[in-house]
Amino acid sequence: MNELAGKHIVLGLSGGVACYKAADLCRQLIKEGATVQVVMTEAAMQFITPVTMQALSGRPVHGSQWDAREPNNMPHINLSREADAILVAPCSADFVARLAQGRADELLSLLCLARPQERVPLLLAPAMNREMWAHPATQRNLAQVAQDGATVLAVGNGDQACGETGDGRMLEPEELLEEVIAFFTPKVLAGQKVLVTAGPTFEAIDPVRGITNHSSGKMGFAIARAAREAGAEVTLVAGPVHLATPRGVHRINVQSAQNMLEAVMQKAQRASVFIATAAVADWRPATQSEQKIKKDGSGQTPVLGFVENPDILATVAQSQHALVGDLFCVGFAAESHDLLAHATAKRQRKGVPLLVGNLGPATFGQDDNALLLVDAQGHRELPRASKRILAQQLVAEIAQRLPALQA
Ligand code: C5P
Repeated sequence: MNELAGKHIVLGLSGGVACYKAADLCRQLIKEGATVQVVMTEAAMQFITPVTMQALSGRPVHGSQWDAREPNNMPHINLSREADAILVAPCSADFVARLAQGRADELLSLLCLARPQERVPLLLAPAMNREMWAHPATQRNLAQVAQDGATVLAVGNGDQACGETGDGRMLEPEELLEEVIAFFTPKVLAGQKVLVTAGPTFEAIDPVRGITNHSSGKMGFAIARAAREAGAEVTLVAGPVHLATPRGVHRINVQSAQNMLEAVMQKAQRASVFIATAAVADWRPATQSEQKIKKDGSGQTPVLGFVENPDILATVAQSQHALVGDLFCVGFAAESHDLLAHATAKRQRKGVPLLVGNLGPATFGQDDNALLLVDAQGHRELPRASKRILAQQLVAEIAQRLPALQA
C-alpha cells in the first residue's frame, strides 16, 4: 500500500541475536515505500553481515565514523540530516546505556546524538535477555532516553535465544512496521477514547450449535487500528473472528449479542466515540438447551423459537452520555439495494449523528469495500478502496465531526 512512501529511514542495528529480524524489517519498510539507510555497529556485524543488509536496502551500509566515501567525511551529519526517522532495531542494553550517556565514539550513537532533535525522531526497539531488561540500570537508562526525547517501543514476551523465557524480545518485524506507520500518522484523535464493535455474534442453541453470520470483522478491526494510529485509546469488542488484534488496541472477546451489549455498556461510559460495525444477530433462540439436542431417529425436528436481541447501537445512542453530546455514535448499515434511502432512515431510527452504509453481503470477508456516509447535512461517498484505506478515511471524517476538535 506504500504507507511509508517518501519516508527515509535510518535503520540502526546494534549487537544482538535479533539482528536477524532486522533483515526482514528492512524488506518490509522498503515494501511500504520507504527508503532505508542501514547503519550497523561493530557488534551488530558479529550477528549479521553488511552484505545482507546492503542487498536488502539497495544501499551500501555505514559502519564507521571514519568513512572516506562521504565527501565531507561526516557521515554522522549527512545521514542524520537526510532521515525522517532513525529506528534502532535491535537496540541492545549497551546501546541504550550509550544513548543515556550521550556517547559518540562510534557511528550509530554519534549520529543519534548529532540528529536535529526537533525534526528527526529516534525510535528504539529494545532487544535483550530478560534479566538485562529487568535490571534497574537498563530501566533507568530507558527512562532517561525517553526523557531525552526518544520513543521507546515495547518489547515482546516469550522464548529467548539464551533459553530463558520472559520480557525483552524484540518485537516482530510486522509489529515494528505497524509501530513505524502509527508513528507517522497524524494524531487527529488524540485524547479520544474510541469503542468499536466488530464481527458477528454467536447465538447458542445448545452447547455445540449456534446461529451466526458471515461477518469477518475486517472493517471493524481496520477501524480500531486506524483510530489507535490516530492517537485514540481504543477498545475493540469482538465477536468470534480469527483476526489478529491491532497493536495497542484493548480487545474484549464476546460471543452473543447480550455479551456484546454488557461489554459495550461497561466501556461506553468512558468512551467519547462509539463505532458499531458488528453484525449483531437480530434474534437468538428463545431457550438455550443445557445439553446437546439429540436426534432420536423418529424423524422429528426440534422447533426453535426466537426472541429479539437488544439493539446495542440504539441503546448506546439513547444513553445519557450520548444524549448530552459526550459520546459520538457511528452506525453501519449493510443493505442490498436503495442504500441512500435505507441508510438515511436507519440513521434516524437509531438516533446517531453518522451512519455508514455499504452494499451488503458482497462485502463480507472482502478486503475492499465502498462506503456511503450519511449525516444531518447530507451524504458523501467514499469510493471503492481497501478496508484499510476506508478505515483511515472514516477516522478522519469522524475526527472532523467531533465538537471538541472543531472548536
Ligand atoms: O438494524 P441493523 O442491524 O441494520 O443496524 C446496523 C447497525 O446497528 C450496525 O451499526 C450494527 O452494529 C448495529 N446493531 C447493534 N445491535 C443490534 C443490531 C445492530 O448494535 N442488535
